[in-house]
Amino acid sequence: MDQQDYLYSNPEDITSIHTLEHLIRRLYQVFESDYINIEYVTRLMEAYKSNTEDWGKFAKFDQFRYTKNLIDEGNGKFDLILVCWKGGQKSPIHDHADSHCFMKTLAGTLTEIRYDWPKDNTDPQALDETSQTNLEHNEVCYMSDALGLHSMGIADNVDTAVSLHLYSPPISSCQVFDPRTGNASKCRVTFWSKFGERTPFSATGSSVPTENNEIIAK
Ligand SMILES: [Fe+2]
Repeated sequence: MDQQDYLYSNPEDITSIHTLEHLIRRLYQVFESDYINIEYVTRLMEAYKSNTEDWGKFAKFDQFRYTKNLIDEGNGKFDLILVCWKGGQKSPIHDHADSHCFMKTLAGTLTEIRYDWPKDNTDPQALDETSQTNLEHNEVCYMSDALGLHSMGIADNVDTAVSLHLYSPPISSCQVFDPRTGNASKCRVTFWSKFGERTPFSATGSSVPTENNEIIAK
């Protein structure tokens, strides 16, 4: 571990984070190193207390499905994404393509359901659910392929929720899973907006809002 790594390894060193911009500046410093201290990044994201004024300009809701809105590309080391959920919207069950994933709830409450990876056999088999957790306002949790698969979502009777997601390294595609069979499909990760601006529609000219996870292979 070199001096740079040591600087960002002790969570006790973390002082208050005043704004989202401040958090992003600190994340740039931490991710200069290839060594990721999971507890340190978790505590850093916890130290930021959500303020709508910081992230409101990135929050774009869609009545049909949850949206992923790119806030920052982290010098190529990480993507920072604001995800906006309306009542009843849920992600598919997915993996994290060997990346670290940190999530913080900025508004509302989200529910995370975790699953085991599909068993290594050829017969279709329902995925085993391993846990269900509510992620409350300002809470942070960590996820990776080593911990299994998960889906995120918002309860039907809740109005909206907003969450902040950090992926390192950035993910361009992942796998989504059918809970009844364990079958996987490869999906491209796309954004509803980037840096506060709506992402242009795809080259196909479709007028349907861009999907967050566009299936590219089964
Ligand atoms: Fe995820």
